[in-house]
Amino acid sequence: MIDFTYYTPTEVKFGRGVETHIPDLIKKYGGSKVLIHYGGGSAERSGLLSKVRRQLTNASIPFVELGGVKPNPRLSLIRQGIELCRTENVDFILAVGGGSVIDSAKAIGVGAGCGTDVWDFYVGKKMADYTLPVGVVLTIPAAGSEMSDGSVVTNEDTGQKRAYGDNLMRPKFAIMNPERTYTLPAYQTSCGATDIMMHTMERYFTHDDDMELTTALAEALLRTVKDATPKVLAAPEDYNLRAQIMWASSLAHNDLTGCGSTGDWATHNLEHELSGMFDVAHGAGLAAIWPHWAEYVLSENPKRFARFAVNVMDIDPATKTTEEAALEGIEAMKAFYHSIGMPTSIPELIGREATEDEIVRMASLASLDDTATIGSLKVLDKSKMIDIYHLANRK
Ligand code: NZQ
Ligand code: ZN
Repeated sequence: MIDFTYYTPTEVKFGRGVETHIPDLIKKYGGSKVLIHYGGGSAERSGLLSKVRRQLTNASIPFVELGGVKPNPRLSLIRQGIELCRTENVDFILAVGGGSVIDSAKAIGVGAGCGTDVWDFYVGKKMADYTLPVGVVLTIPAAGSEMSDGSVVTNEDTGQKRAYGDNLMRPKFAIMNPERTYTLPAYQTSCGATDIMMHTMERYFTHDDDMELTTALAEALLRTVKDATPKVLAAPEDYNLRAQIMWASSLAHNDLTGCGSTGDWATHNLEHELSGMFDVAHGAGLAAIWPHWAEYVLSENPKRFARFAVNVMDIDPATKTTEEAALEGIEAMKAFYHSIGMPTSIPELIGREATEDEIVRMASLASLDDTATIGSLKVLDKSKMIDIYHLANRK
């Protein structure tokens, strides 16, 4: 077990009707002029935005708005948001949406707070020392950005999708009402479930696997999401199922299921290049990569994969070797992805095979032109990344 710091400063209000807390929380965390930031229309259509506007107006909190965040949030809109915050003297950002809106809000927060180009943070040139505070009204359980330290942004000029992580960016509060997720399309529900599970799997498949409590929490979370997802696809307005998944989204990525172990994150790194290049949904991209990554790295810790097979995927280990059980677990995960409408290869994800040039470009971007590696269970250099993309590229 490795030493760790567990830091989760976000105040969570969870349940029906918790939106009524928004004005008090904004004031509590120092907001007196707010930027309401949102996506492409779902929050408007559901009536959530009108409710938020009404509450701020009734509480005499002035606000400006910036909508239009696209999935895989774009740098150009973030720059617009930074400008707006400066000209309007905004001192608090309220993100109403999912991971893309929250990540965009976090980027605006650090960009408006520091006198440097915001992209410098994402390419590792600078660290932020100040941010405008950010609050969240979550509408899709998936990225876990409502409690995480991370923000992932796409620079549409260069095609790079890059993450920046900093405790400064953890939201001050998160409003989570599971009823707000009833309107999610089935595909987004499945993408979200895949991402939630992957945030815990990235922390689970490790060499530091001797922290039993962390492992048991991780397995409970994975089983819960795996069981709830098919049920919620059949019953989208089941409050209890939506609530399990929503809370799992935050716990999967606020580091709880990684305390004492080293995360791997290779699947995420490989996926970020896929969604940067092809503008696909992050969760679907993860499902297209993970089974191939898993087979490629299995020999590094077969016992861990076998434990996952038995405790999460319900594989009966009787009469099987460790490797056989491990492989069955990976196959069962693939079957699960298919059962919830997720792809398990690049051709299923983008409708064709990736070209060799595209694969080499993604591996070059992920390896910073062959100068950096990813992963910890098995360390992957550029050539190994290409191997995994090739495995994922089979029909
Ligand atoms: O834009 P609108 O109209 O709101 O529609 C969104 C969007 O099309 C829709 N949606 C959201 N809530 C809805 C809804 N539709 C109907 N009813 C609702 N209640 O869902 C679509 C996807 O939204 P998005 O915010 O993109 O999804 P998600 O939360 O999965 O975020 C994905 C982004 O987060 C990044 C990903 O890379 C990706 O860019 N990640 C961020 C992380 C972090 N900050 O810690 C970690 C993750 O690993 C991930 O990389
Ligand atoms: Zn993710």
